[in-house]
Amino acid sequence: MTVIALVSAKSSGVTTSALAMTLSSTRPSLLAECDPAGGTLRAGFFQAQITAGTGLYHLAVAERAGEDNLAQAFADHLVRIDASGNRQVLPGLTDPAQAPALERSWPALAQVMRVLSDEGGYDVVIDAGRLALESGRLHTTLTPAPLLHGADLVLLVVRATDQSLALARHMTEPLRNELTDRGTGADALGVLLIEDGPRRPHEVSEALRLPVMAALPWEPDTAAYLAGTGRTPRKLNKSALLSSARTALGHFQAAASRRTLHQQYPSARPAPAVPAAPQVAGVLQRLGQGRVDPRV
Ligand SMILES: Nc1ncnc2c1ncn2[C@@H]1O[C@H](COP(=O)(O)OP(=O)(O)O)[C@@H](O)[C@H]1O
Ligand SMILES: [Mg+2]
Repeated sequence: MTVIALVSAKSSGVTTSALAMTLSSTRPSLLAECDPAGGTLRAGFFQAQITAGTGLYHLAVAERAGEDNLAQAFADHLVRIDASGNRQVLPGLTDPAQAPALERSWPALAQVMRVLSDEGGYDVVIDAGRLALESGRLHTTLTPAPLLHGADLVLLVVRATDQSLALARHMTEPLRNELTDRGTGADALGVLLIEDGPRRPHEVSEALRLPVMAALPWEPDTAAYLAGTGRTPRKLNKSALLSSARTALGHFQAAASRRTLHQQYPSARPAPAVPAAPQVAGVLQRLGQGRVDPRV
């Protein structure tokens, strides 16, 4: 299936959009909260019901003990967010000081996500947080660059305001370069527009010289529920935000399939080979045993 990474130049709705897509997906879906600045789902959506004993940080510890351990730990640290277990979340870091510990684990994590997508049939949504630069390139500790390299699509989340566009503009070139040099190519990059502001998709596209691949409506009530501060909307699934997120995910899946097809032509640059080590594939068997969100 599809691995999608969401990033921003400044807090714009990455976590909200990632959660909306995970909840609205028509296929099994998995949200990995990999923002090096720290996760917000634990205190927000999960309302502090998930302890620090579960989450991303523990995968770095497991990875040091071997790739097999990482795959096992990945499954152990997932939290189910629906009764069927078809939607799961890996809660993020509890402290930004934990980010350096993850640096050497990102490539192995990218591989696990690839396997979950390609062999497990999961839509994987990565919350890669706010981008940080260092000498014009992505910062190696403050940005989970290897996750962006391995994703089918990298979406820069922007709001439809001039301020948001002005900040995002500084990120497009470093992102393009990064994906050209180390990822699957600059055409993996697109925009997810949050419709909070006057700018229309074609204006955003022109300003950033990137395709606007989808847009999500500004819907404070549903967003507040997703942030753990509002009550459950009466028909969450039919809310404008989740409906649009479902449509957006469909667009992303189609775009990712087109890219994969294109990459199969000999003239195109091949996608990086991902060895599906049996121990990594073993994570699939354990997925059904994730922890259950006390709220479901
Ligand atoms: N589509 C939306 N409609 C209404 N509010 C939103 C929407 N997306 C995000 N927000 C709000 O914007 C704020 C930042 O969103 P968040 O997803 O945490 O951003 P990020 O992860 O980029 O920092 C939160 O208060 C959130 O509820
Ligand atoms: Mg966030």
